[in-house]
Amino acid sequence: MTSLQEDTIIRKLGPGERIPYDLLLLADPSIVAMSSYLSLAEIYVMEQDQQVIGTYVLLANDPDELEIKNIAVTPAYQGKGFGKILLQDAAQRARAKGFKRISIGTGNSSIAQLYLYQRQGFEITTVKKDYFMTHYQEPIYENGIQCKHLVMLVRKLN
Ligand code: COA
Repeated sequence: MTSLQEDTIIRKLGPGERIPYDLLLLADPSIVAMSSYLSLAEIYVMEQDQQVIGTYVLLANDPDELEIKNIAVTPAYQGKGFGKILLQDAAQRARAKGFKRISIGTGNSSIAQLYLYQRQGFEITTVKKDYFMTHYQEPIYENGIQCKHLVMLVRKLN
């Protein structure tokens, strides 16, 4: 269950509100890739004392599946359980909207993210081979591993 302190809320960003690009870019370094779906998606922000400390983006892939496109927590707030709460919040909202599944993609080199998502009930379904080699101009390295493949994970909602 999502449990938040009283001074912390998660809410959908309204039209015309400032988009937290700095945070979104932590999750996806390509502004080109992001701009292809942001206008079709819903952006959620986690705020503490009215300051944005986390975000996630939801995009409907099909009538049954909602994808978390970006999820990020401000670096100073990482490792305190907020990422886990954002994932749980996204799943609750997807369920309430009637979706059967929620999905998320990450790189083969994103070890902490693969750990976190699987701990939160997501299972690897597909691997898009060489996705980051063909869709991103600059090579990406994390944990000393080249980020080449996009790993898709899905959690069933019931
Ligand atoms: N290495 C290993 N484990 C880690 C970790 C790290 N760097 N960071 C978090 N974890 C573990 C925690 O120990 C915790 O495990 P537990 O439940 O067994 O105790 C779990 O992951 C959840 O941690 P949490 O504190 O909720 O995560 P977070 O608030 O740091 O948010 C991210 C996770 C990924 C959203 C955040 O680190 C982030 O914004 N990263 C940069 C953007 C990004 O990579 N987005 C995802 C793109 S696919």
